[in-house]
Amino acid sequence: MDNQINASVTSTPLQHLLLYCRPGFEKECAAEIQNTLLDSDVAGYANAQPDSGFVLFTPYEAHEIPRLMREIRFFELIFARQLIFTAPVLTDLPPDDRITPLLNCAESLSPYYSEILLETADTNEAKSLSVFVRKFAGPLAKAATLRGMSESGSKKKHPGLHLFFSDSSKAYVGLSRSGNSSPWLMGIPRLKFPRSAPSRSTLKLEEAFHFFLGENPRQLEPAMTAVDLGAAPGGWTWQLVKRSIRVTAVDNGPMDRQLLESGIVEHVRADGFRFRPVKPVDWLVCDMVEQPARIARLVAQWMAEGLCRYAIFNLKLPMKKRYDEVRRCRELMEVMLDDAEVPFQLRFKQLYHDREEVTGYLARL
Ligand SMILES: C[S@@+](CC[C@H](N)C(=O)[O-])C[C@H]1O[C@@H](n2cnc3c(N)ncnc32)[C@H](O)[C@@H]1O
Repeated sequence: MDNQINASVTSTPLQHLLLYCRPGFEKECAAEIQNTLLDSDVAGYANAQPDSGFVLFTPYEAHEIPRLMREIRFFELIFARQLIFTAPVLTDLPPDDRITPLLNCAESLSPYYSEILLETADTNEAKSLSVFVRKFAGPLAKAATLRGMSESGSKKKHPGLHLFFSDSSKAYVGLSRSGNSSPWLMGIPRLKFPRSAPSRSTLKLEEAFHFFLGENPRQLEPAMTAVDLGAAPGGWTWQLVKRSIRVTAVDNGPMDRQLLESGIVEHVRADGFRFRPVKPVDWLVCDMVEQPARIARLVAQWMAEGLCRYAIFNLKLPMKKRYDEVRRCRELMEVMLDDAEVPFQLRFKQLYHDREEVTGYLARL
């Protein structure tokens, strides 16, 4: 990769934006960051190796990076799991002392850090590095403490330090800002599959709640009402029932028996595109496998007609032009909601538990 420097170089300015993404989505992630930066009048080039699980963006003017750190909104990016700002890659890290050059570089970026994260791409290849990374974490943390660099419990004040290894002798040293980056190691939330949930899809909705609503959200209160379109066997319904939300589960397929026995789930065998609730509900959730534009239109219609206040929905992406397709869906929804004069917030994210898909969140303001 370009701009390599030897590990002996100690003072290194920020030069790249490093974005972690789902392997296979580098092209989308790169196109999105390039597009986003055009709004900030910043040009540069993106290095996006297929299936590498990350994108490296280098602005032509490195001095723009501090401004970009303020302007880019991580939570608005769809395909990036994490966003960090890095020095040029460190290569040839000496096996007998990798710590010194890594911490020298870190110190040149910021004197203090709130936490240290040792990371790799989310690829099978990089998994072979996990033993090395685990062993390295303790000695590195100790050395950073001795230098007085790490101040835990100061998350807001100091950046997070990220060491992103592509192999044991090569790493990017970068930083992230709390509130403008993923709080999870490698941008991956570690959610435990709940045993009584009827499908693994349940984790998609749980992650969506975490990502879009944060901790203890006011949007999820007991006794609220929801419609789940394409509900069977009930993984998403399970998340709502867990929060004591009353659910109408719409699907021609069978629902999990235990969920039906909860007393707060009504199963309606109907076409999700035709179904409408008798009374408006708080939540619409939708995981039907259908053309993304059809789902987008349906969700916007519910909101425009005042049938729900919040919606979380999944868009299954086509094989090609996936970023374009999400943008098309967003535009289509924006036009429909503007025409209906509904004030709204609309966000999309490719969550860790999403595969060839993205999740959307729509709220009436
Ligand atoms: C990916 S699965 C949903 C999984 C579910 N969210 C869970 O967590 O268990 C998609 C579901 O959408 C349903 N579906 C597809 N098209 C539908 C339609 N037009 N109306 C109702 N359900 C539909 C399918 O029957 C299938 O059960």
